[in-house]
Amino acid sequence: MIKKIIFYLKFVTQGTNKYNIHSPLVHNFIENVLDSSIKYYAFLGIEHVREELKKQKEQINTKDFGAGSKTIKSSNISIGELTKKVQSKSKKAQLLFRLSVFFQKKNILEIGTSLGLTTSYFANTDKRAKVTTIEADPIICKWAQKNFNKLKLNNIHLINNSFDEILPDILKKNFDLIFFDGNHSKEATLKYFYWALEYVKEESIFIFDDINWSHEMREAWIEICKCSEVMLSLDLFSLGIVFFKKNRQKEHINLVHLSNFY
Ligand SMILES: C[S@@+](CC[C@H](N)C(=O)[O-])C[C@H]1O[C@@H](n2cnc3c(N)ncnc32)[C@H](O)[C@@H]1O
Repeated sequence: MIKKIIFYLKFVTQGTNKYNIHSPLVHNFIENVLDSSIKYYAFLGIEHVREELKKQKEQINTKDFGAGSKTIKSSNISIGELTKKVQSKSKKAQLLFRLSVFFQKKNILEIGTSLGLTTSYFANTDKRAKVTTIEADPIICKWAQKNFNKLKLNNIHLINNSFDEILPDILKKNFDLIFFDGNHSKEATLKYFYWALEYVKEESIFIFDDINWSHEMREAWIEICKCSEVMLSLDLFSLGIVFFKKNRQKEHINLVHLSNFY
């Protein structure tokens, strides 16, 4: 916790607020995605499923397929605890929903499904959108699929496999939005980033979760921002977002905003 506070103080000293942003792209993004308070009808159903999951006492035995969680120590955990500790919170998931709507992303990849709540947000942005999501744990996959069925979502391709095995092949599908939220180690994050970079298009957006989860994740994020293909890197503290549009000068922004705490 202390480490996170130190990270945040450093972030703020190098940061800027929305009133000092000159880039039209970032300005519109803040207005329409970060500052928007529109509640979409789809949110209700997904949040209802989240509340039901939180009450689930059924125990499952999870394996740590990536750099695991700091809050989950045992491998036996109830679905309720998993929901509270591992799923992106509703505010973050709704931010991702708005981002995807705003940039009209239709071919989305989520690296790390867990119970599928964030996946469900992505899938609800547009019924024509196709969401591919990857999860190694077969029991967690079953729960995620149950949730997609409850929400009547037919535009999700849930893959039960390990990232290392499936990513080299699946990345050929030219995703226009990729949410990296699986293995929170520097090595894996950079490996998946460079793999994805081979297929990147100008309109692609990559989003990295938990960039301040550890020193390692911070280092991975800094390396990603320095990459010459990345034209704009937006640090929201809780998330890092990178854009590849070429007709602009390379820019990095630490945006001091309420979303830093999502
Ligand atoms: C942080 S959770 C995903 C949370 C979800 N995206 C959300 O926003 O609520 C990460 C998931 O990735 C899975 N995972 C971790 N490493 C993996 C790997 N190497 N291959 C496949 N799945 C992995 C874990 O089992 C876990 O369920």
